[in-house]
Parts: sequence; C-alpha cells; structure tokens
Amino acid sequence: MNDIIINRLLGVGIALSNIKDEGQLYQIILESAMDIIACDGGTLYTIENDSLKFRVMITRSQNVKKGGDNGPIDLPNVPLRKENVCARCALERRVFKVDDVYKSHDGFDFSGPKKYDQMTGYHTQSMLVIPMEDDKGKIIGVMQFINAIGKNGFVGPFAQWHTNVVLSLASQTAICLTNHNYSRQLERTMDSMVSVMSTAIDALTPYNANHSRNMAKYAKKFIKWMNETGEGWSFTPEDERRFIMAVQLHDVGKLVTPLEVMNKETRLNGREVAIHNRFKYIAKIDEVDYLKKRISAEEYKSRKAQLEAGHQIIDTINKAGFLKDDMLKIIRDYAKNTYWDEEDEDFLDPQPWLTEEEVHLLSIQKGTLSAEEREIMENHVVMTAKLLGEMEFTDADQNIRNWASDHHELLNGSGYPNHKTGDDLDWNVRLLTILDVFDALTARDRPYKPPMPLEKAFAILDDMANKEGKIDPIILDLFKKSRAGEPDDDDEAAREAAREAEKDRLIC
Ligand SMILES: [Fe+2]
Ligand SMILES: [Fe+2]
Repeated sequence: MNDIIINRLLGVGIALSNIKDEGQLYQIILESAMDIIACDGGTLYTIENDSLKFRVMITRSQNVKKGGDNGPIDLPNVPLRKENVCARCALERRVFKVDDVYKSHDGFDFSGPKKYDQMTGYHTQSMLVIPMEDDKGKIIGVMQFINAIGKNGFVGPFAQWHTNVVLSLASQTAICLTNHNYSRQLERTMDSMVSVMSTAIDALTPYNANHSRNMAKYAKKFIKWMNETGEGWSFTPEDERRFIMAVQLHDVGKLVTPLEVMNKETRLNGREVAIHNRFKYIAKIDEVDYLKKRISAEEYKSRKAQLEAGHQIIDTINKAGFLKDDMLKIIRDYAKNTYWDEEDEDFLDPQPWLTEEEVHLLSIQKGTLSAEEREIMENHVVMTAKLLGEMEFTDADQNIRNWASDHHELLNGSGYPNHKTGDDLDWNVRLLTILDVFDALTARDRPYKPPMPLEKAFAILDDMANKEGKIDPIILDLFKKSRAGEPDDDDEAAREAAREAEKDRLIC
C-alpha cells in the first residue's frame, strides 16, 4: 500500500470519527472506498433481522446515488441465501472477487445485477464484495464494489491491493459504526431516563398533571412549524432533542418539594375543621356564661351572631383567589376576639378565637401559599439546578441544565432565583418560559381549575411581554402565529374542553 493511499485512508478515518449522522457515515465510507480503489459502483448493506438492508447505492456513470444522507432506500432487504454473493460474504465472512459477472461459474445467482443491466443499459462486469466486522468479530454489514476502472479508463477486474485497501477501510468503518452505535445507545438510554423522570415529575401531583408532556408537545409543534416556514430560528434534530430534554427536566426540582406545599388547595389546608369545632365550642361557653349571667344578653347575642357568620366567612376567605383589604380587616377583627375556657387548666388567660398561625394563613392576600410556603415552592427551581448539576451532560448538552434552571427568570429581572435579565437569557430559555406559563394557564387536566380560553391566556401573555417586559414579545408572536398551542384537529377531548372554557368565559 503506497503512502498516498495510506494518507487517504487516515484522512477518511479522521473524517469518519467526526460524523454523527448514520446515513452520512455510510455514504462517506462507500464513496471514500470507491474513490481510493477507483470503481464505478458500490452498495453498502448492514445486517438487519437476518437480512441485508440497503444503506447506500451508487453508480457514478449513471448518476445514481440512493440512501446515505438522502434518507432510506425503498428496496426490500436481501435474504441471507448462499446464492447471493453479498449474503454469502456475510454468512461466510469471506471476500469474494468476481472478474466477470457474465462469465462467472462460482454458482452465484447474478440475476439481480443482470436484470438491472437490462433495465438501465448498464453493464456489470467485475465485482468485489467484502464483509464488515465489528470489534467483537460480529458481521455488521457488507460492501459491494462494481466495475473497477483501470488506468486506461476501461473496466477490468479488481486487483489484490483493492481488496487490501477496502478491508482496511472496512475495519476503520466497523470501529466508527460501533462507536456510533454505542453513542446512539447512550443517547437513547439518557433520553429514556429523562423521559421516565419527566413522567415521574408530572405524576407527582395532580397540580402538575401532564405539564411537562404538554410543554414538550407544544415545543415539538412549534419547532416543526419554524423549520417548515423558515420563521424564527432553525432547530437541527440535535437542537430539538436538547430543548425537549430541558423541557422534560425543567421542574425536576419538584421531586424534592414537599407535597403538602405543592398540593395546597386552600389557605388553611384542612386547619378549618379545627376552627369550626372551636367556634362551636366557644358558642357553648358563651351560652353557659350568658346563663350564669357572666355576660349580658346583648353581648351573648352579638358574639353568637359573629361566631355563626364566622363559619361562612372563614370558608369564603379560605378558598378565595384574591383577598381585598376589607376581607383582611375582617380577619384582623376576628383575631381580636377571645374566649376563656375555665374548664381547661392550661388556659390561664383568655384565648384568641383564631391562632396566630391561622390569622397568618388567612391573611394570605393572593393564592393559597404563605410567604414561607411560596419560598419553598419557588425553591424547586434551585433544586432543579442542584439536581441537574449532579447529572452528567456531554459538552454539547451543557445548555440543557441552564435552560431548565432558568425557566422562572424573566427578562426584566423580576424572576427567580437569580433575577437574571434579558442579556443572560437566550432564545431557548425564553421559549421554555413562555411554554411554561402558557401550559400553567391553559392546562385542561388540572383537577382544581378549568382551562383558561386561549384568547384570555394570550391576553395575559401579551401583557407580560409588552406591558411588563417579562417575556419575549417576538417569540410570543411566533408561538401564537404557529398555533402550536391549539388542540390538534383529532383531539376532540381538548376541543370540547376549549368549548366549555369558552362558554364559561361568555357566562362570566
Ligand atoms: Fe417551574
Ligand atoms: Fe413548569
């Protein structure tokens, strides 16, 4: 093997090690081999289900190039029968060299190439078929070369050095394919682990429902739309894989967030039962005090009315989405009331109708979480960063951790936990944040609230983008334009939920 050929082989080896796409890998291998040995045609097969699968087919003089990075070849697999020279090469791990297909007496069935010749006017003459083995000696494919072209430009038989070169290339190829398969396998393992984690996060609480799954669905539709229309920015399959992984992992910190905080439906979260019982008990004490003439009839009547109203008021405040100031005042006034249970030796002083903690919880102005509980809830994103910090990512996948950990940061710096601003937040995390808010508003699978109509959700998102400067207005407009957030035509359940939500909106 001369230096020129050795250098070309080394060059091919380096090129092969950098290729990620399987189809492209097959094409480069076959084309490089054909270049080095100078032949007109070639086919590369891999073994699949005990047959040979076409991966790349090239006939240069006829301008034929199928498979490789052009996608799969639409031809049936070749069964592993000994009459077929390629199949026999795979079965017997042997190189076969045929000088003239039409004069061969080796017992091979060359009806295939002959039929091809008849249909196309081509003339198949010489053939070299070599097996491809992996590092464990397992046959992983076959390369077939057609019509060696001599220095005089005419087709002639393949020489021994052709076999040596192609075998050397085949062993490099097998190593590359094995490595490629290992990395694909690792990727698939990683993807499936992330998918399992995502399912676990979603299943953790009905408050999550299908949150990550919904977001991934919107993301895929949106990316497809951008790639098809050329609007926005383009995603390669690798970019998309990384982004979807960030979506699936963005709330992984919820796995270590206390469920009683995540599932808290009301301010008191069950403590209201104790309050109702206490109010009934106080009413009894008051009745005794009145009968024993410790309190006047007016005072008894007033306290009784207050206690009776209290049941309803506590329930209303407990479940309200937002408390106006007058409601907060009612709670504070209630807290001033006291009772004295003389039967209870522990009570030396009058006791408040509502404990400090109950007043604190009932005074939550918005939502159901107290400041401390909100902090615990918001900490899920810190935990996302911590957990993903312990997870091994390849260099190319490092951004997954950042996108996932920054999904509650907002462009104007009002997000958490690090109050990052626009400059620190790339397009991917900006999109992730929009998908996160969009699903939180429109999800139709939460037990505690009906879905918000799309129109209303987009009005809120519009305000966040254009009035408050929290989210990216360009990405939001693209997302709206893509209609990726709308139910699929065949998703009748989603359409029905949307119709119901629309009805609610009209009634309200
Ligand atoms: Fe989150
Ligand atoms: Fe989320």
